[in-house]
Amino acid sequence: MRAVYPGTFDPITMGHKDLIVRASKIFDELVVGVALNLQKNPLFSIDKRVKFLEMVTSNMKNVTVKHFDGLLVDFAMKHETNIILKGIRAMTDFEYEFQMAQINQNLNMDIQTLFLVTNQQYSFLSSGAVKEVAMNRGSIRGLVPDEVHDEIVNCFRNGIF
Ligand code: PNS
Repeated sequence: MRAVYPGTFDPITMGHKDLIVRASKIFDELVVGVALNLQKNPLFSIDKRVKFLEMVTSNMKNVTVKHFDGLLVDFAMKHETNIILKGIRAMTDFEYEFQMAQINQNLNMDIQTLFLVTNQQYSFLSSGAVKEVAMNRGSIRGLVPDEVHDEIVNCFRNGIF
């Protein structure tokens, strides 16, 4: 069974990695979909966001990383799966994700959205929080995967994203 795990990943956090590791043990194949998502005005380029995910998942045999523009349901169909996986940190996430799941269902009745509850260790964590801490020269050690920590810190140091 294959699933897609979509997100903006601006940048990847430990919460994302934890979810990818857990999902890779549930599904035969996991396709991580990095959304271009220009309306969210991401700080990191699509190339950087994909690269960080590739670095983190390089030793995960059944995980691939792809970028996409356009509708998530089309991305899922392109990769021949009807399963969309999302992480839920709190009830506030649920309201938004529930709406998205129903919009996606409306676009394609075959789509099944599955939710995994975030590890409570990371329920406070978001890409936004990582950016806020890093921009203010705080430590993001433990908030982002070790494999990409130095590269992300360098991006903030050099102002190249
Ligand atoms: O990590 P995020 O920012 O919560 O991920 C949001 C994402 C990428 C899942 C969402 O923005 C998305 O699905 N974008 C693709 C466009 C789309 O299909 N939107 C849903 C119908 S409005």
